[in-house]
Amino acid sequence: MEQSIFTLVDTYTPDHDLLVLPFLDEQTPCFETNGLPFALADAAPTKKGAARTVYAGALEDSFVLAQAVRLDDDTLPAMENMKMAVVNAIAIAKKEKLQRVAVFLTAEHEDLILAAQEGAELGGYAFDKYLQEKASPISVCVVSTAPPSAPLAEALKDARETLACVSMARDVLNEPPNAVNPPTLAEVFEDFGAKSGLAVETWKEDRLEAEGCGGIVSVGKGSSAKPRLVLGEYSSPTPKLHLALVGKGVTFDTGGYSLKPSEFQVGMKYDMGGAAMIFAAACAIARLKLPVKLTVLTPLVENNVSSNAYKVSDILTTRNGKTVEVLNTDAEGRLILADALALACEHEPDIVIDAATLTGACVVGLGDDIAAVYSTDQDLSASMLSASEATGEAFWPMPLFKPYAEKLKSTVADVNNTGKTRYGGSITAALFLQNWVTDNVKWMHLDIAGPGGKEEALGPIGKGGKGFGVRSLVELVKRLTSE
Ligand code: BES
Ligand code: ZN
Ligand code: ZN
Repeated sequence: MEQSIFTLVDTYTPDHDLLVLPFLDEQTPCFETNGLPFALADAAPTKKGAARTVYAGALEDSFVLAQAVRLDDDTLPAMENMKMAVVNAIAIAKKEKLQRVAVFLTAEHEDLILAAQEGAELGGYAFDKYLQEKASPISVCVVSTAPPSAPLAEALKDARETLACVSMARDVLNEPPNAVNPPTLAEVFEDFGAKSGLAVETWKEDRLEAEGCGGIVSVGKGSSAKPRLVLGEYSSPTPKLHLALVGKGVTFDTGGYSLKPSEFQVGMKYDMGGAAMIFAAACAIARLKLPVKLTVLTPLVENNVSSNAYKVSDILTTRNGKTVEVLNTDAEGRLILADALALACEHEPDIVIDAATLTGACVVGLGDDIAAVYSTDQDLSASMLSASEATGEAFWPMPLFKPYAEKLKSTVADVNNTGKTRYGGSITAALFLQNWVTDNVKWMHLDIAGPGGKEEALGPIGKGGKGFGVRSLVELVKRLTSE
């Protein structure tokens, strides 16, 4: 879905529309009241966050339905309610067989215009590749009598680039695991990365073996779809910092010989959510030409069973020489991230950020809407939290509680891969990863197991793959480089 369904127009010509008329509160419209065919006195809904139909009837040769919506409520900021209003309007327009959603906003509400575009792109996304009956897209326009300022036009364009990358992430998440596996996902990343301005290289099995990536090679052994490591590079001519991004790409997680019960295998096609997020964000950063040097690494494996698969009690040697005793083949994500984090640190970046659908424990602790943030640098995690607040994605801080590292001890290897108990499982997983991060680099680990693998709708994003985290990560990099 690279084609945008969103436009910004300065005159309104009726075209079988659902009109959205946003109010900041009970009395403050965000749109010009003149030129509309009906009286708007008392049009705002009396209840916070509510919508109210204010007109349904003929307009020129069209039928139009107009809804006033209040953007103020007690749980969400106006920006998020604007996105939701557009998403809800798209659903109503489909039901009422209307052709278009027209949102009335004056040019001074630049944030809301950006939010409306985001609602249109996120809410208009449909994965209908395998359906015989394709979805018919509803277009969305914002009617703003004054032309957009140059900065707004630029911001809308930049946001569309990021949203195109979010859609790429959603596409690869939604594809079934018989279509997306390490070799095919590597190809998608290579193509999309090249189109976005990244220099991309893929390491196949032989190279991974030769480079000492024992984690990736071992986890990948159980599948006939062989493991890959996709490496991407981008550099602005004036980089303000060097950032390395790492994402867990398990294209399907059966659990391996520590097999997941069948009901827990449902949703495990989303176990490459970290790779999708990280690679999509890297592409957006390159498209926006943000002033950074960027190194991106996505280890890709399918965690499966076969006579060749890795087993409980295997001892693996990873890229930085550390050895791991495998106590559970279902704790595979951290094994592939170990190699990738070590490689990332070899590039001597200022900051390393990894994202992974890493632990069920994280979902137990934070639910399936919130991602966990672990960091060795308080300023970095604070910036992440405020960036995600601006994009409407939920992240929450968690501790790298050192005493729990005890649980990772092994008598036969440097560490074990489970932490031995389920308690604090997201924390011990984070502490495990820290073994592959050098001390001189700022590191942040994002456990996106909940929202990264969520099937139901999440805010303005509909069912299926979300592309969770892409917008927040891009926003973070903008903020880190804006001083
Ligand atoms: N991919 C899973 C984590 C997961 C679970 C993501 C639920 C999304 C929803 C991961 O590979 C895993 O299975 N982790 C194990 C680790 C344990 C064996 C130490 C877990 O969380 O149970
Ligand atoms: Zn697993
Ligand atoms: Zn997994």
